[in-house]
Amino acid sequence: MKPYCRILLRRCRNSDFFGFRSPNCHHSFTPVPSNFRLNSDNNRKFNSFPHGLLGFRCVIDRTQKPNCASTFGCGQSRVFSSRVYVIADVSSNFRNYSTSVETRVNENNFERVYVQGGMNVKPLVVERIDKDENIGRDVESRLEDNSENVNNENLEGLNPVGVLSTGKGESDVETEAWKLLRNAVVTYCGSPIGTMAANDPADKQPLNYDQVFIRDFLPSGLAFLLKGEAEIVRNFLLHTLQLQSWEKTVDCYSPGQGLMPASFKVRTVPLDENKFEEVLDPDFGESAIGRVAPVDSGLWWIILLSAYGKLTGDYALQERMDVQTGIKLILNLCLSDGFDMFPSLLVTDGSCMIDRRMGIHGHPLEIQALFYSALRCSREMLSVDDGSKNLVRAINNRLSALSFHIREYYWVDMKKINEIYRYKTEEYSTDATNKFNIYPEQIPHWLVDWIPEKGGYLIGNLQPAHMDFRFFTLGNLWSIVSSLGTPKQNEAILNLIEAKWDDLMGHMPLKICYPALEYEEWRIITGSDPKNTPWSYHNGGSWPTLLWQFTLACMKMGRPELARKALDMAEKRLPVDSWPEYYDTRNGKFIGKQARLNQTWSIAGFLTSKMLLENPEMASLLFWEEDYELLEVCVCALSNSGRKKCSRGAAKSQILI
Ligand code: GLC
Repeated sequence: MKPYCRILLRRCRNSDFFGFRSPNCHHSFTPVPSNFRLNSDNNRKFNSFPHGLLGFRCVIDRTQKPNCASTFGCGQSRVFSSRVYVIADVSSNFRNYSTSVETRVNENNFERVYVQGGMNVKPLVVERIDKDENIGRDVESRLEDNSENVNNENLEGLNPVGVLSTGKGESDVETEAWKLLRNAVVTYCGSPIGTMAANDPADKQPLNYDQVFIRDFLPSGLAFLLKGEAEIVRNFLLHTLQLQSWEKTVDCYSPGQGLMPASFKVRTVPLDENKFEEVLDPDFGESAIGRVAPVDSGLWWIILLSAYGKLTGDYALQERMDVQTGIKLILNLCLSDGFDMFPSLLVTDGSCMIDRRMGIHGHPLEIQALFYSALRCSREMLSVDDGSKNLVRAINNRLSALSFHIREYYWVDMKKINEIYRYKTEEYSTDATNKFNIYPEQIPHWLVDWIPEKGGYLIGNLQPAHMDFRFFTLGNLWSIVSSLGTPKQNEAILNLIEAKWDDLMGHMPLKICYPALEYEEWRIITGSDPKNTPWSYHNGGSWPTLLWQFTLACMKMGRPELARKALDMAEKRLPVDSWPEYYDTRNGKFIGKQARLNQTWSIAGFLTSKMLLENPEMASLLFWEEDYELLEVCVCALSNSGRKKCSRGAAKSQILI
């Protein structure tokens, strides 16, 4: 037992170590290029800051001339344009390269994080209440590892997979979009680390739209990766990893250590003598409107980490001990035992892209699809050793159970709706047909007319006596991309989108959900939210950023022409309308009432869609095919309960629906 493990944020050091992935973890091994090394004159002091701020301390001297080391132009820094004054403070410790991190999934051990030492000194302290000696040590060395390696590496030329963007030359719209995307880049200590959510010059009240949101950065990150510019993504991944371990409190409560923030801001803090320093200020939901939990952030982080490896060939990043620990902390949070009866993740309202009250508490599809994707990514990325084998087993079991659960209970098409229509209720038994006691009266009137002959979709949410029949686009698209749905279901989802083109695409792709909540439902479910009025914002608004996920889903299903059709439509309007965040009205005619302009993920979503369509082989690295092994586990588990025949053949033939 290790009662106290003190974690101090140490000084940064140099190291040129990059780990090598064991052959069983990846299909291919790509050596790290020789120029992938440290920049020795760029040492920074890593420190702990009061007032919840975190950062490498980089002191800026306003009297010096600008000196930009990044691949991005000096004018693109929105924080400052003065020279980064480096505090030379290099120690020569060596990193502990052990990767033995114990997993604590489904075991009775926990850790507690709290603050010691009053307002101005806030070392992070981990108190272990278990037999596991390793995790605290790992987190400690993780902080050290990060502090030395986040910024000090020169990534120029890193792109061994050889990704290139446009084969046909850029259109004017693309050129403009790239300019805007680069203008949205946020730098930290002279290096690019993310993109701000919106860069609307006319916006007098940016609220938190000037921050780097984890989820919003996905299309930006992919656009840069597809363009062969990996540095910003690498910096983003490593800096957000640091924030994960940061002390966080919401009033008197500390959320789990693996939690990733919803967003962060680079703040400049004045020092004496014309100098100031930059610090990272994360928001874990404690400032967010409605105090919503950023459940999706960690899942997106894992997905981007996996994409980074696949698109650059730099698998060494995933193998670093600090990064492996980061993955495990996120998974520990997601896989720990609670009161759940289902394999799906139980979350509060607004814990994903829809970050306001919209009646999506419980088991919303979007979170389940991201969870499934993150589990699949993690399974590929985790180094398998004695310390992680329990976790890998837990991942495999959860993947099987989750896909079965979603395929079986979330799926609706004409036939299934007719079944529900004829359901018997109040069945008390283990083999009930109507397991969730759904009253047929719940089938909404709109659905009966709306559901096409050909096609179907995964419903938005499932709880006891409650099916949320709304169509949520992101969850359905991501189910296709990750193969959470069966091959037939995935095809049927695209069929439905095609059949319901006017409703879901209208004048601007893509409806976030269909239909909108109106009248009493809007009043009760949103709490009369004036931003989420019917057919606006999250309540049936149209979000151009969803284009990249639609493109990926179409490409996976061999239907790129559908994506092109949507993209052509968007290309005509987006630049003219100044790249709005969202559109309003039943078919997306108007720029959204409170939509920000120059919304970064609208811009990046468009660019990523374009590049994916032009680079199908790159796109194919970003989606997953059906995994028959997982299916077999599930069919075998069911056969033990007498429900299905157990074999891979049976798995293939039934594909669970
Ligand atoms: C809104 C969106 C959220 C997004 C944020 C920044 O809050 O609902 O999904 O991350 O804006 O763009």
